[in-house]
Amino acid sequence: MPKVVIPYEPQPRQQLYHQTICIDELLYGGAAGGGKSEATIWDALMYAMTYPESRQIIFRRTFPDLQRSIIARTLVAYPKALGKYNQSKHEWIFVNGSVVELAYFDSDSHKPNYDGAEYDVIRWEELTHFEEGWYTFMLSRLRGSKPYPRYIKSTTNPGNVGHAWVKKRFIDIGEWEKVHHVHETDETGSPLFHPDTGAPIISRRVFIPARVQDNPALLRADPNYIVRLMQLSEQERKQKLDGDWDTFAGQFFGEFSRAMHVVKPFRIPREWRRFRMMDEGYNDPFVCLWGALDRSGNLYIYREFIRSKLLSSEQAAHTKRLTGAEQIDYTVGDTSFWNKSKTSGEAPFEVFVKAGIPMIQATKERVNGWKRVREWLHPVDVVDPVTGETHKEARLRIFDTCTGLIEALPSMVTDEHNPEDVAAHPLDHAPDALRYGLMSRPAPAIVTEESKPVPFPFKTEDDDYESEGAIMTW
Ligand SMILES: Nc1ncnc2c1ncn2[C@@H]1O[C@H](COP(=O)(O)OP(=O)(O)OP(=O)(O)O)[C@@H](O)[C@H]1O
Ligand SMILES: [Mg+2]
Repeated sequence: MPKVVIPYEPQPRQQLYHQTICIDELLYGGAAGGGKSEATIWDALMYAMTYPESRQIIFRRTFPDLQRSIIARTLVAYPKALGKYNQSKHEWIFVNGSVVELAYFDSDSHKPNYDGAEYDVIRWEELTHFEEGWYTFMLSRLRGSKPYPRYIKSTTNPGNVGHAWVKKRFIDIGEWEKVHHVHETDETGSPLFHPDTGAPIISRRVFIPARVQDNPALLRADPNYIVRLMQLSEQERKQKLDGDWDTFAGQFFGEFSRAMHVVKPFRIPREWRRFRMMDEGYNDPFVCLWGALDRSGNLYIYREFIRSKLLSSEQAAHTKRLTGAEQIDYTVGDTSFWNKSKTSGEAPFEVFVKAGIPMIQATKERVNGWKRVREWLHPVDVVDPVTGETHKEARLRIFDTCTGLIEALPSMVTDEHNPEDVAAHPLDHAPDALRYGLMSRPAPAIVTEESKPVPFPFKTEDDDYESEGAIMTW
């Protein structure tokens, strides 16, 4: 084996990232310039040299990003005495038989490339650029016959389309820099158990925060770097300089706030007008939201049903079951409910009509639709009729049982080609249904005096409000 000097001295946080190996999934994330990518390429090399004939893969979302960051960087950094880069296969082959593949993954169509693949380590660079489904798919490729530690190590800044799922998977699980044993769940949220032993399926996950201040090498070489970050807009500065996960640049509904838009369920008075809004889907989920308008014109989304892989007849049956005896004024549906099925020749809306759910077609215009959603979310000044004091309220309120819609709204990201539109996102189905519903109504009423609904216990015996329905499946 050739003796070579590695031109890299890890900073303390990078050291922690390298040393953490008794885990299944690690995320090294936060501020820009903390040394995350540098740590990735050296970690991959150290692993390759420590474990002969091991196989690793490093992902970026697009080929240009891969080329610019990982390929270019490894070509400069990796000592040639240790291995060779194969240009056509985009992989490093080292003298001990280890391989590090460099690849991009930006659509479901890339999954079959990895059907029979096995990796000891999978590394995602800029994890928030990816969809969760791709990440979990590749988790199943983490396998092999050699007695090596196997794990996924990723790096990222906050923001981008994957912000919400990455935050939930790594940031919100508990104290940072501590390994958490997370009981895995299936897509309906039910805990998973080993089919043979019945033992709970546990993942060991850890989040290591990165800060620019961790990287004195960068600050020495470029003392003005922090000054430039400080000149960014507040949101971008928080994200890039502080690695803040609570806000992120590009968030479409910046006005969404749990405190203002999410309410505890209460019994809805019978006389309030109710309507339903639906987004069509089979592989993508079918979504039904139930809305009720109070006497002042405030809209409450009081129930949601979100589930994929249901036939139209099953979607209609669930809708009916959950609606029960409630009086629904009308149901507005995505225009694709009117597309005839190739096999039965019947359009989904006909199935719904037969089941007793007539439907009107949604206005699908996106930009005006999102504007309408924003109008309903926008906080307005309301004067309390008793005290005369002014406070802020929004016209749209969501029962806290509607977890899918509550997760989805703040996750929506601005389309980089059209700042007035929402970029495609795996969670956009519930916001789409909401948009169809709001486009079926006038803009929100501006009213100052309000008849406040009386908060009710979550479940009561004579209740016409059914708590079931907050079922989330993607
Ligand atoms: N231990 C180190 N010694 C010397 N230089 C380093 C070290 N770690 C990182 N650097 C240098 O600091 C700069 C920023 O590092 P890097 O690109 O890894 O940051 P990052 O956290 O991936 O940033 P971004 O969030 O923008 O992707 C690079 O020029 C890199 O070469
Ligand atoms: Mg980087």
